[in-house]
Amino acid sequence: MVAIAILAAGRGTRMKSDLPKVLHELAGRSLVERVLQSCQEIQISRRIVIVGYRGELVKEALMGGKEIRDNPQSPPLEFVEQTEQLGTGHAIQQLLPHLQGFQGDLLVLNGDVPLLRSETIKQLMAIHKQHQNSATLLTANLPNPQGYGRVFTDSQNLVQQIVEDRDCTQAQKQSHRINAGVYCFHWPDLEKILPELKADNDQKEYYLTDTVNFLSPVMAVDVEDYQEILGINDRKHLATACDILQRRVKDKWMTAGVTLLDPNSITIDDTVELQPDVVIEPQTHLRGKTSIASGSRIGPGSLIENSQIAENVTVLYSVVSDSTVAQNSRIGPYAHLRGHAEIGANCRVGNFVEVKNTQIGDRSNAAHLSYLGDATLGEKVNIGAGTITANYDGKNKHKTQIGDRTKIGSNSVLVAPITLGEDVTVAAGSVVTEDVSNDCLVIARSRQAVKPGWKLKEPKK
Ligand code: UD1
Ligand code: CA
Repeated sequence: MVAIAILAAGRGTRMKSDLPKVLHELAGRSLVERVLQSCQEIQISRRIVIVGYRGELVKEALMGGKEIRDNPQSPPLEFVEQTEQLGTGHAIQQLLPHLQGFQGDLLVLNGDVPLLRSETIKQLMAIHKQHQNSATLLTANLPNPQGYGRVFTDSQNLVQQIVEDRDCTQAQKQSHRINAGVYCFHWPDLEKILPELKADNDQKEYYLTDTVNFLSPVMAVDVEDYQEILGINDRKHLATACDILQRRVKDKWMTAGVTLLDPNSITIDDTVELQPDVVIEPQTHLRGKTSIASGSRIGPGSLIENSQIAENVTVLYSVVSDSTVAQNSRIGPYAHLRGHAEIGANCRVGNFVEVKNTQIGDRSNAAHLSYLGDATLGEKVNIGAGTITANYDGKNKHKTQIGDRTKIGSNSVLVAPITLGEDVTVAAGSVVTEDVSNDCLVIARSRQAVKPGWKLKEPKK
């Protein structure tokens, strides 16, 4: 049996932020969500998050978050409060009343180590079991170990001491082997010695790392790729983690057959799904629950967020959020789809067209300078340049319905609520305020007046 505890009570002073450190986002997910995600593939019986600084906020973010939605089969999240943040050891001491009698292992993860992979945790736990250790912890050899606790072992990798950076002597500081903040403890052993911790260090805190002085055997396991264990303490670390994550995600998609042109200028959240033969052009950003099917070409200069793009679509210099686009449609340049826009197959939504909460049927076009909001368009509809659905009366939003093959002349305003039937033609420049049935021409503008021979009078001297 394995329980996990995530340390998430600290404020994260070095972030210089009101937001608790663990809620800072890394490519679309908070740090603590990422830590939870890294345990997803491990058989666990309990999941405990230790909260303190703005704990309600952390709780709220996790309970309402993607993590819960994405892992319905994981054990429920439990929150344990550490009212005063007196150190990582003190945080784990708060578990004593909650894990009384628990006979299994406790996996402890720092809430600010977001890049850890499941495989690494599994490996750590396997070694812990194999050697029947009292504790096993993850270590790494860092080129720049500054800020991390240093781990000192004997030749058998048995830990003798962990010394925090600020407590290190000059000689100890020379060691590059650091504590990653990932531990597996045999809980019955840890339970016994937790009350022994003392705060006799530079920070006057109870260090979890001091438990190794009371336990035996404690083994160190080196992580293969030290980038995994980067702990986020400030905004620079956050940016570095972002780079590492981006490299991972992009390598994965390029290996899977996606072309990225100028990868450094592209960002892709790890929640995005891409099919082979997708091409992503420079300065394009793919976020959230987005999927893009084969043959589609996105960018340059586009942002796609929580949207589904089908096969052979092009999106050029455009923003697409919370929307879907069916196959072979062309979006942009400079289109904005949002609020559950659904674009059919073989459509064209072009230059400076905004589409909000609107369904557009197959083979319909809105190529220039339009706003389509709260509307339903049939198939083969043509929206002339400058058409506006006036959906808002100052208080409420209203619907516009346009039947198949209807053509809206340029610079028309459709004042909602309004229904235009099939095969309707709206004359350019019309302001349409009443419903129109099938097969009609509607002209709703004042007639042009022409006065022959009319000239401005010369002003009298
Ligand atoms: C800790 C380790 C250090 C290790 C590093 C790895 C200790 C004493 N030191 O140092 O050896 O190299 O992580 O990243 O453990 N937290 C609480 N309650 C507290 C204090 C902290 O929940 O009272 C949480 C924080 O929110 C954070 C985590 O514990 O998620 C680590 O705390 P932090 O202050 O960042 O520890 P480090 O100084 O980085
Ligand atoms: Ca840290």
